[in-house]
Amino acid sequence: MRAGKIDPKQGLIPFAIVVVIMSSLLFVYLYLGREPVAEAEGFRAELAEGFGSAGLWALAIIYGRSVLKMALNEGTLLERFIPVYYQELSVSASRKVLNILNRTHKHVGAFAVAILAGHAALMGTVRWNLFLEMVLALLVWQGVFGLFLVVRFPPASLRRYGYLVHAQLFSGVMIGVFAGFGHLLVGD
Ligand code: HEM
Repeated sequence: MRAGKIDPKQGLIPFAIVVVIMSSLLFVYLYLGREPVAEAEGFRAELAEGFGSAGLWALAIIYGRSVLKMALNEGTLLERFIPVYYQELSVSASRKVLNILNRTHKHVGAFAVAILAGHAALMGTVRWNLFLEMVLALLVWQGVFGLFLVVRFPPASLRRYGYLVHAQLFSGVMIGVFAGFGHLLVGD
């Protein structure tokens, strides 16, 4: 990284720690006040579970791409783990995988938002809680700004703003932490 240039990734770990601490407090508060709800059963619940797992896979692909991007950009990070003999081979293979992930990103992203919205709807609003509602809001937020990057109409300034807020891992951290705590609340 060039000196003097601020890397937005730098604040990611402190941010994650703060989010986990605040979420733990909110979790305790919501846990103490929660009302028991029967576990979802039957075909609708099965479908909801299937959608949840598919959404999880989609998010794994999306954030796996982010990790791969960072590993390749930082170059030396890969070199630290891979024996010299295999370095060139693995870097070129990783670039190929990254190319595929880049090309399919908008489809995987749209799929993730749609399938997880379906997952939430099928589970039923009685099972929602503040954490899960925040996850839904963040998914929609990511979807909307992602859309600004791929459709033609937005002016350049909106596109730049879209990139600024869409391509950050801060929302990814919140989605992961909130989804974790949210599911702990609805689990038994
Ligand atoms: C990051 C997004 C999300 C992912 C990856 C995800 C994934 C999953 C998975 C894998 C399951 C377990 C299915 C099984 O038992 O096999 C599940 C359960 C569940 N999810 Fe989600 N989910 C997400 C967001 C949401 C949202 C936004 C809501 C509601 C607003 C929600 C509500 C539920 C409920 C109620 C259950 C059942 C939990 C239980 O009874 O144990 N999920 N989810």
